[in-house]
Amino acid sequence: MTQNKRLVKMFVYGCQMNFAEAERMEGQLREIGFESTEDAEKADLILMHTCCVRETAEDKAYGKIGEIKRLKREKPSLLFGVTGCMAQKESEALIRRAPHIDFVLGTGRIGELSRVVGELFAEREGNNTRHVVDVAENGGLPEDGTPARQGTVSAWVPIMYGCDNFCTYCIVPYVRGRERSRLPEDILREIEDAAAKGFKEVTLLGQNVNSYGKDHKLADFAELLAMADKVEGIERVRFMTSHPKDLSPRLIAAVRDGQHICEHFHLPVQHGSDPILKAMNRNYTTERYKELVRSIRENVPGASLTTDLIVGFPGETDEDFESLLDFLREIRYDAAYTFLYSPRSGTPAAKLDGQVPDEVKHERLERLMALQNQISLEQNQKLDGTVQEVLIEGPSRTDATIWTGRTRTGKIVLWPHQKGEGVGELAQIRITQPQTWVLKGERERAEG
Ligand code: SAH
Ligand code: SF4
Ligand code: F3S
Repeated sequence: MTQNKRLVKMFVYGCQMNFAEAERMEGQLREIGFESTEDAEKADLILMHTCCVRETAEDKAYGKIGEIKRLKREKPSLLFGVTGCMAQKESEALIRRAPHIDFVLGTGRIGELSRVVGELFAEREGNNTRHVVDVAENGGLPEDGTPARQGTVSAWVPIMYGCDNFCTYCIVPYVRGRERSRLPEDILREIEDAAAKGFKEVTLLGQNVNSYGKDHKLADFAELLAMADKVEGIERVRFMTSHPKDLSPRLIAAVRDGQHICEHFHLPVQHGSDPILKAMNRNYTTERYKELVRSIRENVPGASLTTDLIVGFPGETDEDFESLLDFLREIRYDAAYTFLYSPRSGTPAAKLDGQVPDEVKHERLERLMALQNQISLEQNQKLDGTVQEVLIEGPSRTDATIWTGRTRTGKIVLWPHQKGEGVGELAQIRITQPQTWVLKGERERAEG
C-alpha cells in the first residue's frame, strides 16, 4: 500500500475465539503496512471485533460505536469497521443505526479484511465514501498469514469454526455457521511455528472441540491432542470448550496419557436440573454428566473442573434452581462462569413462555455466586502447602515485584519475584495462601 505506516486500533469483545481471530486480523493488516496502537485518537483505522452472545455484549459494543463518532468527526479520514458475531447478526442494520461505520464484515468474511481496507483507503483519497457490508457465509479464515500474537508465552490456536448444536438459548450457531474443522497439518504447522517463536503453551479453541474432525475425518480430537503433545518446545497444551454430550473416554485417556496436556476440563453444564437441560437441548442428563465427572476424576486425579452456568432460563422454577445449587454442592467445581439468561431474538428459547422476571434472575445469580465462591475457596484450600508447577507469565498488573503464572490446572498463582526468574520458564511454587480466585505462594528453594 503506502510507504508510511498506518495505525490500527482494535477493540475486541467476546470469547477466546474472538481474541484469536483478532490476532489473525492484525496479522493481515501488518502485511499491508499497518502497525498497532493502543491510542484510538492516533489511529487511521479502528476495528471492533464484536460478540452478541448476550445483550450486555451488544450494549457494550454500541456504547463504543457511539464514542467513535466523535473521533470520526475530528478526523474524517479515519476508517471504522465492525467485524465478528454482531456484525454477522446485524449486517446493514448497523450502518443504518450508526452511519459513521464504514464497513461491516461477518464472521466468514474476515479473510477479506485487508482487501476491503486497502480498497476503502484508496477510494478515500478520491473522496469516495462508499460503505461495504459483507456477511455472506463462506467457511472460516484463510490458512495463509501469520497471526500478530499478543503475549509471548501462550498462543491461541483455533482448530474449528462454527457450531452445530443449537442449544435453544444460544445465538452462536446462527452467527458462526456450521462446524468446519481445520486440517490437522495446518494446525500442527501453526503450533510448530508458535514453538519456534518461543511460545510454551497453546490453547486449542473451538465451540465444541470434541467434535473436531467429524467433517474431514483425518483425525479426531483425541488424536489431534496427542499430535500437539509431541511438538518440541511446547510445555503445555490446553483446550476449550468440551461439550459434555461428546466428551469421549478417548479424550479422557489422551489427557491422562499426554505429557504436556494440562489436567483441566472446562465442561459447561449450563444447569443442574434435568427438565431445564432438556429445554436447553443440551442432550445429556445430570446423571450422565456426573458419570463423566467420575470418569475424569478416576483417570486424571487432581484435574480441575470448571463450568458455565445460566440462571433464569425460561420456566426455571425455585425447585429447578435448588437442584442447580445441589448439583454444584455435589460436583464441587474449581470455578464457574455464571450468566443471567439473555433472550436472543431468533433463538427458540426467546419465544418460550415463563420468562423469569429480572429481580428473580438477579437474586438467584447472587445466591449461585455466593455458593460457588465458597466452593472455589474450599477447592483451592486443598492445595495449601503443596508445590505447583507454574508457567511464568510475568509481573502482575498491580505490583511489579509480584509475578504471576498458572498451574497446569489453570489456576492463577502469585509470588514475590526472585532474581533470575524469566517469563516463559517453569517454576516450582509452594502455595501458602490459597484464596477464591488466586493462589498466593513462594518460590520453592531447590534442595542442597
Ligand atoms: N460453545 C461453548 C460456549 C459458547 S458461549 C459451549 O457450548 O460451552 C459461552 C457461554 O455463554 C455458554 O456456555 C453459556 O453459558 C453462555 N450463554 C450462551 N448464550 C447465552 C444466553 N442467551 N444468555 C446467557 N448466557 C448465554
Ligand atoms: Fe452455543 Fe450450545 Fe454451540 Fe455452545 S454448544 S456455542 S452453547 S449452541
Ligand atoms: Fe460471542 Fe461470537 Fe464468541 S457471539 S461468545 S464472540 S462466538
